[in-house]
Amino acid sequence: MLKPLAPALVLAALTACVPAHSPGAPAPLSPSAQRGLTFARANCAGCHAVEGSAASPNAEAPTFVAIANMPGLTGETLRQYLRDSHNYPAAMNFTVEPAQIDDLADYAVTLKRADYKPDI
Ligand code: HEC
Repeated sequence: MLKPLAPALVLAALTACVPAHSPGAPAPLSPSAQRGLTFARANCAGCHAVEGSAASPNAEAPTFVAIANMPGLTGETLRQYLRDSHNYPAAMNFTVEPAQIDDLADYAVTLKRADYKPDI
């Protein structure tokens, strides 16, 4: 018979996922970052590479990794940018709802890499 796991054990098993994550494997995302990724796949991926290191479908559009690793970019500067839709490039002829902006920013900052090198 299976014994139900003690809550502390379940918690230990969950937290154990974090250090076990191998280099190159996607890091576990927070719920808002996960929503941001889902939204980006649906709404941004037509032009931008929204995950990983592949090139963007639209060569003019920087990858989300490149955006996330722009010097000085934080969740807050990205939210500011996404709120100011009048500053968008002409190709981005849309506005993004505030809740989605928070999710997108939470997702984008997960793409920051200490060892990021722009490929120019
Ligand atoms: C129709 C194509 C298209 C779609 C869809 C699109 N983008 Fe863009 N985006 C571009 C292009 C092209 C650029 C670069 C324009 C430039 O450098 O002048 C850009 C630039 C950006 C930048 C600015 C990078 C910088 O250099 O400051 C951000 C941030 C960004 N996009 C976020 C998003 C997000 C978030 C979404 C989805 C909600 C999205 N984009 C959807 C085409 C698109």
